[in-house]
Amino acid sequence: MNAHPTPGAAATSSAGQAIAGPATAGSVAPDPLAPVFAQYPLHVVSASGVWLHTADGRRVLDLYGGHAVAALGYGHPGWTRALQSQAQSLNFQSNAVPLDVRTRAAQRLLRFAGGGFSQVFFVNSGAEANENALKMAFTSTGRGEVAALEHGFHGRTAGAGAITWGAAAKWYGFPRTPFDVRFLPRRDPAALAQITTQTAAVIVEPVQGVGGAFDLGADYLAALRRRCDATGALLIFDEVQCGMGRTGRPFAADLYGVAPDMITTAKALGNGFPCAALLMNPRVAAAVKLDAMGTTFGGGPMACAVIEAVIEALESEQLIDNVRRVGELIRERCLVGPVRGYQGAGFLAGLICARPAKEVHKALLERDILTGTSGDPAVLRLLPPFILRSPQVEQLRSALLEIGS
Ligand SMILES: Cc1ncc(COP(=O)(O)O)c(C=O)c1O
Repeated sequence: MNAHPTPGAAATSSAGQAIAGPATAGSVAPDPLAPVFAQYPLHVVSASGVWLHTADGRRVLDLYGGHAVAALGYGHPGWTRALQSQAQSLNFQSNAVPLDVRTRAAQRLLRFAGGGFSQVFFVNSGAEANENALKMAFTSTGRGEVAALEHGFHGRTAGAGAITWGAAAKWYGFPRTPFDVRFLPRRDPAALAQITTQTAAVIVEPVQGVGGAFDLGADYLAALRRRCDATGALLIFDEVQCGMGRTGRPFAADLYGVAPDMITTAKALGNGFPCAALLMNPRVAAAVKLDAMGTTFGGGPMACAVIEAVIEALESEQLIDNVRRVGELIRERCLVGPVRGYQGAGFLAGLICARPAKEVHKALLERDILTGTSGDPAVLRLLPPFILRSPQVEQLRSALLEIGS
């Protein structure tokens, strides 16, 4: 995290991702970075495992993982080796050139996803994966409307921002959205009637991230699937934040037993190397034509080597089992002090606080524990690396008890 000063930074970013103001006061040097991010008061210089090391000598427990990215934690040997050896053998070739590492990464990701998907399109970011998912929905159904959920977050580009709840009022910035969007209330089966034969796709995060680690639940998602089947709309699960093992299953689709037509994923997929993917079931894949989508960097060899290494580590080190086990411990042990309730799943945990979550976040950071806030002012969001163990859960519990209600 960069500790550059951002004079006058907002107290809460639109994504609820940071709550502090300038990292250093009284700086005179002009800031070379666009001042769009509120900054945590934390000058990180290195990291290992679940620990961040700061310039002033602190060791901070990272329960936020760089916005859900650092699934393997920091300095993972297999991930580092994969990046080094791919950099030495072939650092880049475009998608015009077939690469073994790209094919292997796609096969591995499809296997990891458990069988319902037949093709992958690699891109660079979550927003780009969502843009392409929408495009496939429009072109394969011939329809022009999308349904999304209130409090959902899908990214900052024109299409992804259009389906993000509240973006228009806060930061959207484009003169108009590129297509019509209906926002449905969360977990409300009656509102599913608004999905019609005009709807190309419904896009949801099965566990909303920015929305406060809010889990939509198996019943609601199954009802959504049935409504999509009845109307011919495609179902897209945005698992950019909740996917790749974070809920304690490879994807939240498995957790809830509901099969979407497409999954988008990013963040933990690369453990910090920028990459993302769109997974398509055979119905959608059949509609993909030459030149329908494109990218320069997506599916590059470095990204693909990293994707293989991430899945290898998740599987060989049983990290998803660890997420389930330690996620359960968080739920059992951390409803203390200011915390009154829990929502979410696995390592996308929302601790519902009796006072503003940003106050709890600040008090925890003063005790060398980094957590996240969210779009819900009462919810403290935990997105730790999958290597987190029970002693660190006890460390969080003790700090919460010390903070008190
Ligand atoms: C659920 C979800 N979708 C999409 C995005 C956008 O991803 P990116 O920032 O990689 O474009 C995010 C980012 O926070 C997210 O949480």
